[in-house]
Amino acid sequence: MTESQTEQTPIQQVQTEGKALEQAFERFVRFSDPAAVAELDLETTIALQRELAEVRTSRLGKKSAWATKKKLIGRVAPSERPVVGQLVQEIEDKILTMADTIELNLKAHIDQERTARESIDVTLPGRRPAYGHRHPITIVRERIEDIFVALGYVIEDGREIETDFYNFTALNIPDNHPARGEADTFYTTDGFALRSQTSTVQIHAMQRRGVPIRMIAPGRVFRRDTPDPTHNPMFFQVEGLCVDRGITMAHLKGTVTEMLRRMFGADIVTRFRPSYFPFTEPSAEFDFSCFKCKGAGCRICKNSGWIELGGSGMVHPNVLRTVGVDPQVYSGFAFGFGIDRMCALMYELDDIRLLFENDVRFLEQFE
Ligand code: DAH
Repeated sequence: MTESQTEQTPIQQVQTEGKALEQAFERFVRFSDPAAVAELDLETTIALQRELAEVRTSRLGKKSAWATKKKLIGRVAPSERPVVGQLVQEIEDKILTMADTIELNLKAHIDQERTARESIDVTLPGRRPAYGHRHPITIVRERIEDIFVALGYVIEDGREIETDFYNFTALNIPDNHPARGEADTFYTTDGFALRSQTSTVQIHAMQRRGVPIRMIAPGRVFRRDTPDPTHNPMFFQVEGLCVDRGITMAHLKGTVTEMLRRMFGADIVTRFRPSYFPFTEPSAEFDFSCFKCKGAGCRICKNSGWIELGGSGMVHPNVLRTVGVDPQVYSGFAFGFGIDRMCALMYELDDIRLLFENDVRFLEQFE
C-alpha cells in the first residue's frame, strides 16, 4: 500500500475505489439509453455485451479490488460501521443498476437484430442466380473458330512460353533480327521467350500432325509495348495455316475473304498489299472494306474506306524444311491477325485497354 492510501480513512478509501469503479464502467454509460444501442450493428452489440460482462467480473467479482474494500466494513469501529456500510451499498447499487440496464438494452437489441436477420419475407420474388457470360474477346474468338471449323480447319493451342527455336529460328527469323532483342520480347530469367506471335504454333502443329494440314491457333501473345488505346503488352492473335499439294496465293485470298465476309457481311471486299515477313514469301498485309461506311469513309476506317487487319503470305520454304516438309511437293499459306483489334472494330471500342481492365460495368454490355 502507498502512504497516501494508508493515511486515508476507511470512508475515503471506499470513495476512492468507488470513483475507480465508475471510471471502469464509464464507456458503457451511454448505452443506458436504448436509442444509443439501437444505432449499433449486431456484431458490435455482441462484442459490447461480452466486454461489459468481463468488466463486471473483474471489477465487482470476488477477487476484485472492490471486494477487498468491502471487507473494511468488518474492520472499522462499530460506531462507523453503518456509515461505511451504507456508502458501500450506495456505490454498488448505483453501478449494478446501471450495468443491469445496459445489459438488458444490449440483449434486447441483439434479439431484435437476430430476428430481423433471420426473417424471410416469403412474398418477395426469388433471387435470380447471377449468370456470368463470355468475355467479348472470347465471343469473337469463338466466332472465328466456328468459321474455320466449318471450313475444315482444326484448332491448335500452342504454348505461351517458348524457346528461341520456336519463337524465332524455326520461323526463319535471322539471328540479328530486332524482334529477338529484349526491347521487343519478354524473356524469363532462364532465357525462355513469352511468345511474341502465334506463328510459333505453325511449327508445333506441323511437327506433330505433319502435312497436309489446315489449322488455326488463337491465343495470347506478349510484346514489350507501352499500353495505349491501340496497344497492350498482352493481346490475342489468331494464326492460320494451310499446307497441302498445290496450295496457291489464290487459296489464301479466298480463305481470308470468306472469313471476313462471314464475320462482317457478304459485301466485304479485301485487298492484299505486298509486305515482308521472314516466314512467308511472298508476303502480304490484308485490308478489308469498311463494314460500317461501305467504303465511303468514316471514323472507324479513318476516312480511308479500308480497315487494316493482318499479315499473311506463302509459307517460306525454309519453314517447311525445318519441320521436314519438302517444299518441292508441298506449299502453303499462313496468316495472322489480332483478335482484340477485331473485337474493338466490331464493338466500336475506342480503347482496347478496356478489354483487359475487367470492369464488370463494361463487360456486362456484351452478349
Ligand atoms: N506473326 C505476324 C505478326 O505478329 C502476323 C503474321 C504475318 C502471321 C504473316 C502470319 C503471316 O502467319 O504469314 O505480326
